[in-house]
Amino acid sequence: GPTAKSFLPTSDRTLASLCNAAMACEGCDIHRDASRVVFGRGPADAKLVIVGEQPGDMEDRSGEPFIGPAGQLLRRTMAEVGLDATQVYITNAVKHFKFKLQGKRRLHVKPSSREIAACRPWLEAELDAIRPAMILCLGATAASVIKGPNFRITRQRGEVDKCDHAKWAMATYHPSALLRVPDENARARMMAMFTEDLRRTAEHHR
Ligand code: URA
Ligand code: SF4
Repeated sequence: GPTAKSFLPTSDRTLASLCNAAMACEGCDIHRDASRVVFGRGPADAKLVIVGEQPGDMEDRSGEPFIGPAGQLLRRTMAEVGLDATQVYITNAVKHFKFKLQGKRRLHVKPSSREIAACRPWLEAELDAIRPAMILCLGATAASVIKGPNFRITRQRGEVDKCDHAKWAMATYHPSALLRVPDENARARMMAMFTEDLRRTAEHHR
């Protein structure tokens, strides 16, 4: 099937050029119902790249990654550990919002492995343009792309390894997953681990 590959610019692979080209991507079916591409944001010389799964409802409306509830939790925690969001490049493994309708609400639907693979050329081109020191993956989708299909967040979160696209890579919980944990104590424990992973990320990538 098609992938994002045929929509990538052939020579000029700056972030601005990539972002522009991505607006026309039809590399998988997700673009049909989504409002717009949500490309990564941040400086080309970022030392840290944070990779989420896919944009949510609010990101699809605004075009900016991680500005909804999960993004607020992420940004609040970044500030808490001294990670300056203006110096970090924030992006997603999949650039369009996949959802199902429930009444008027648009509910997140996990992208398939085929869709994740179709969108991967965008993320790889972003990483090639930036060449960050460290990549922080939020959740299983980003971790599968960067750390491989056998990576398990529950067992391996917080581990710092080498990867193809950066000196170091780590994966931690997705902030949306934290927001969904029903038990208050369990949520507090996971929040503490998430904060600790971000703290170690802040120390590691300098
Ligand atoms: N969740 C993600 O993974 N990415 C976003 O941009 C927003 C929510
Ligand atoms: Fe292209 Fe990715 Fe959007 Fe699919 S999700 S259409 S591959 S940008």
